[in-house]
Amino acid sequence: MKLGFFGFVAQQRAPLAPAHKADLNGKTVLVTGANNGIGYEAAKHFARMQPLRLILACRSKEKGEAAVEKLKKETNYPGTVELWILDLADFSSVKSFAEKFEADGGRLDILVANAAIDPNKKLEYTKDGWESATASVQVNNLSTSLLSLLLLPRMLDTAEKYNAVPRLVIVSSLVHYFAKFKKSLVNSKNPWRKYGHKEEFKGPLSKDRYNETKLLNLFFTRALNDRLAGKPIIVTSVNPGYCYSSLRRRLTGLQAIIDSLMEKALARTSEEGSRQLVYASVGGGYRADQLRGAYINLSKVEEPSDYILSKAGHEAQEKFWDTLVEELIKVDPKVKKIVDDSLTAPMMDSMMSSDMGSKKGSKKSKKMSSKMDSMKDSKMEKESKMDSMKDSKMDSMKESKMDSMKESKMDSMTPKMESSTMNSNMNTAMAA
Ligand SMILES: NC(=O)c1ccc[n+]([C@@H]2O[C@H](COP(=O)([O-])OP(=O)(O)OC[C@H]3O[C@@H](n4cnc5c(N)ncnc54)[C@H](OP(=O)(O)O)[C@@H]3O)[C@@H](O)[C@H]2O)c1
Repeated sequence: MKLGFFGFVAQQRAPLAPAHKADLNGKTVLVTGANNGIGYEAAKHFARMQPLRLILACRSKEKGEAAVEKLKKETNYPGTVELWILDLADFSSVKSFAEKFEADGGRLDILVANAAIDPNKKLEYTKDGWESATASVQVNNLSTSLLSLLLLPRMLDTAEKYNAVPRLVIVSSLVHYFAKFKKSLVNSKNPWRKYGHKEEFKGPLSKDRYNETKLLNLFFTRALNDRLAGKPIIVTSVNPGYCYSSLRRRLTGLQAIIDSLMEKALARTSEEGSRQLVYASVGGGYRADQLRGAYINLSKVEEPSDYILSKAGHEAQEKFWDTLVEELIKVDPKVKKIVDDSLTAPMMDSMMSSDMGSKKGSKKSKKMSSKMDSMKDSKMEKESKMDSMKDSKMDSMKESKMDSMKESKMDSMTPKMESSTMNSNMNTAMAA
């Protein structure tokens, strides 16, 4: 689907369902970037569901400790809120974090990969060599994916030992609707390096960069889901909506003014945004399988951007996946074993890549591949629409009468497809 400015406004004004609840007794929940904003509010909701362990992964010890204290006071959580230090702008921190988790040997039921930054305009690089304005590709994508893959064995182990279905929630955004990649980037040898490594990327930083990192979050979710081949892990990406938080703290000048006006008119609270993370983590009930690989918005499955569903988008997704794995193996060779042991090449994609890999591919095979693409696209679209219908039916069964009324009002306000794309200035100002 497409999303324009009025669609965005309608989404922001749509009534929200209350936060979903579940019994997290005995379970372990991990939230990255949990010291403030949407991540902190999600952690508070989880605390009220009383998991056995609640882990806040934060880059700053000081801020993390303050968040732990605040959370305990605000929720009366009887368990121990654990603070684990994680700096996504530093691969060695991600590796140590995952090693500690592995050594700890505990279960992992819910991983909410929430931490992200909205880049500023100054081009810098992390010590690992990635664009760091400050560190958007490394924080929002490479490290988020690295952490998810390194913790995948713990989640699979949890599924097996406890007969559970762990959830991996990648926090994306509606701004993915405003992003796409140039073919020249996708067709380059390694788009990640060209996009953000100091050896190949010298700038300038495009104003759509944050939106692109959020599109890459969806690519990762979808590519990983395709390779999980029905394994008992549900991976989703989620849009919390445009919220008050410190995300846009680096905006300056006119952009900061526009953003502040837009916040006053349209922003939700971080708590409201966090409900989407909670839904992705515990919602869906007996139809939770419908959430696999899905993009979640307003507590239901929603169709992602047309670009993602297009052939070009799918090719970009696959190229970014393949080269992501290559890059992450360089960072930590364990990634290779995890990918080899736990993931399976998706059938559709292997057909497609064999076609794309051979320039001399027969007309027949090319035709077949594009037929498969359009079948896949239309199947995805149909499934997504069915999911929304099923979900709203499910929600209306589950929630109180009042909530049902709110839901149906929300449905009637759901943004329609729009042809206009958002003015890029507004787009950056609402970058979220
Ligand atoms: N706010 C919105 O309007 C909006 C809309 C759509 C999607 N989102 C998404 O929602 C998620 C949460 O954002 P938010 O609005 O709550 O922003 P926020 O208040 O700025 O919180 C971001 C969190 O990420 C952490 N973080 C940043 N860089 C990190 C790093 N290198 N290593 C580890 N943690 C790091 C921050 O830690 P520090 O406090 O130490 O910086 C903070 O805890 C993000 O994925 C964002 O893209 C937000």
